[in-house]
Amino acid sequence: MKPIVTVTNIFPQVALDKLSSECDLKINRTSLTKEELKQKVSGSDAVISYLTDRIDQDIIDRGTKLKIIANYGAGFNNIDVTYASERGIWVTNTPNVLHETTADLTWAMILGTARQIVSADRYTREGKFQGWGAKLFLGGDVYEKTLGIIGLGEIGRSVARRALGFNMRTLYHQRNLLPREEEKKLNVEYATFEKILRASDFLTLHVPLTEETEYMIGNDEIALMKKTAYLIHTARGKVIDDYALVAALREGRLAGAALDVYEDEPELTEGMRELENLMILPHIGSASFETRDKMALLVADNILDALGGKAPRSLVPGYPK
Ligand code: DGY
Repeated sequence: MKPIVTVTNIFPQVALDKLSSECDLKINRTSLTKEELKQKVSGSDAVISYLTDRIDQDIIDRGTKLKIIANYGAGFNNIDVTYASERGIWVTNTPNVLHETTADLTWAMILGTARQIVSADRYTREGKFQGWGAKLFLGGDVYEKTLGIIGLGEIGRSVARRALGFNMRTLYHQRNLLPREEEKKLNVEYATFEKILRASDFLTLHVPLTEETEYMIGNDEIALMKKTAYLIHTARGKVIDDYALVAALREGRLAGAALDVYEDEPELTEGMRELENLMILPHIGSASFETRDKMALLVADNILDALGGKAPRSLVPGYPK
C-alpha cells in the first residue's frame, strides 16, 4: 500500500505529479474546518499544510501514523513544532525559494505606497482625472532616501540588494550583526532598534512571528518614526499592532503604509478600509507562478525524503535535531 498524503488545499499540479507515483494523494480543494482536518490527518502518513491550517496538539494527536507536516510556505507559526517534534514528526517549510519574489513585492509596495499607485489608478478609472495638475497625487521620493530593514534574513537581504539601484542609505536591525564583508557588499549599516525607527524613511519588516516579535511595532514605536515615513510589512500580521497603525495613519503621524499581512487576516481591522494612505494586499508575497511551483516541489521533496526514511531537506529552523 502506498503512503497516504493529505493535501489540505489546492496545490500546484507539478508537485502532485511528482508525488503521485509514490503516494496515495488525498486532495482537498477548499479550506478544512478543524474537525475535517482532524479526520484527514488520522490515517495520513504526511500532511501538506497551508499557513491557514492551525496544526495544534489536537490535530497532531490524531496523526498516529504521521511522519511529516510539510508546510507550503516559509512561515510556520501555524504549527506547534515543539509538540510535533516530541511526537517524532518532522516539520518542514520552504526556505530559499521565495525570497526574491517576496522582495519584488516588497519593492512594489515601497514604490506603490510612496507614489500612491493604487489610489491614482482608482481615481483615473473613476473618471476623476480632468487633466494634468501640479498637485495631483504628490508622493514621496524613494531614491537616495533611508531604508530601514528589520530582519536581514534571506528576504531582507534581497530587499537590501534591490536598494542599491536606488542609491539609498540602508540600515538594518536584527539580533546578530552581519559579517563586515557582507555588510559592505549589501551597503548596509547596523542600527539599534530605536535608531532604525527614528531614521528610516521607509521601514520594512522581515521577521518571523514569535513571542519576541509579536506587536514589535505599536504606538510607542510609531511615535519614534518620522511623520513622513512609510511602513511596509510582508511578514506576518501581529508583528504590528494594527489598531495603533490605523490611528497613526488617520492622524497623519505616518505618511503611509503598505501591508501584505495583517492581524486578523482576512478580516480587515476596523478603520483600514477607509484609509487612502494605506495599501492593503491579500498576502501575496510569494505569489508568482514560478515561485509557487518551486515551493510546492520543495514540499514534495521533503515528503519523499521523510517517507523514504531520511531527514527532510528543509526542516524548520530550530527543529530539534
Ligand atoms: C510564507 O511563505 O510564509 C508566505 O507568507 C506564504 O507565501
